[in-house]
Amino acid sequence: MKPILLSGVKPTNRVHIGNYFGAMKQFVDLQDDYRNYVFIADYHALNQVKDAKELNEYTHDLIVNYLAIGLDPKKTVLFKQSDAPQVCELQWIFNCLLPKPYLERAHAYKDALAKKKEINMGLFCYPVLMGADILMYDADVVPVGEDQKQHLEMAIDLANKFNHQWGQTFKLPKPLIMKEMVIAGTNGEKMSKSKNNIIELFEPEETLKKKVMSIKTDSKGVNDKKNPEEDNVFAFHKLFSQPMLKELRQRYEEGGIGYKESKEILFNNILQYTAPFRKKRAQLLKDKSYVLGVLADGAKQANKAAEAKMEKVRRAIGVYPIK
Ligand code: TRP
Repeated sequence: MKPILLSGVKPTNRVHIGNYFGAMKQFVDLQDDYRNYVFIADYHALNQVKDAKELNEYTHDLIVNYLAIGLDPKKTVLFKQSDAPQVCELQWIFNCLLPKPYLERAHAYKDALAKKKEINMGLFCYPVLMGADILMYDADVVPVGEDQKQHLEMAIDLANKFNHQWGQTFKLPKPLIMKEMVIAGTNGEKMSKSKNNIIELFEPEETLKKKVMSIKTDSKGVNDKKNPEEDNVFAFHKLFSQPMLKELRQRYEEGGIGYKESKEILFNNILQYTAPFRKKRAQLLKDKSYVLGVLADGAKQANKAAEAKMEKVRRAIGVYPIK
């Protein structure tokens, strides 16, 4: 049996290039080595997305996009978090184990507090629901970048606490540290919806062109020597222009390529790189019943695993019929 890898993604925006290279691509690359559980964390997204139509649309967009970039439903259980609502039951049980001061140490909570943002209980208990996600499916490994490390540590604490209180029930997950892939947006800052610097993975051609041409650069002329490591356009080339990267680097360093030309090359390379995904996505959008079938199957498998786990948990804590 392959080890279980589990990961969740929040449907809070349309998929952009940063999401793709930072996380989604890596799950596809890992699906041969693990038994994968990938889910769309729609309940986690409720903290940020309060519009029903938007939440629903982002969720289904993510599913289609995952399939389009090559996630294989035979290797990966792909499901919506809300399709196995037992996690909410488990979260409540975990809530009863965790002292409030423990949760007050969470980075996201402290950050919201410092920035005087509104803090609802969903934000406060975010790590508990995430712990329930991870422990419910007996994950062996969870891929984490820097920002999610603490959440995984809390999940491990939760497993230990529960096992100590009620007997061995949960497996202790391990982090799979991913090389930090911070993808810069069109202005050079980390790509994020709130910074208005995103390029969607399936950006329509016209807006893609506009966005690529608007990538911020310095004002060096065509013949000036340029440091590729300091240029935002070149940062994108590293993702999309691998076959010609050496040549581009040389032209940057020697002078002779202007930003306009560099951007035009980039635009074409993005289109070329994403062409197979776009084709698959167009097919999937026409074949809704296939997508719904994948989701129904994912929901069934997730439910089966969650129900089996909850049976044990309910027994352990004393929630079962009297004899
Ligand atoms: N918190 C994760 C994020 O913001 C999403 C997530 C929810 C998750 N539940 C999870 C990730 C369980 C891994 C495992 O990216």
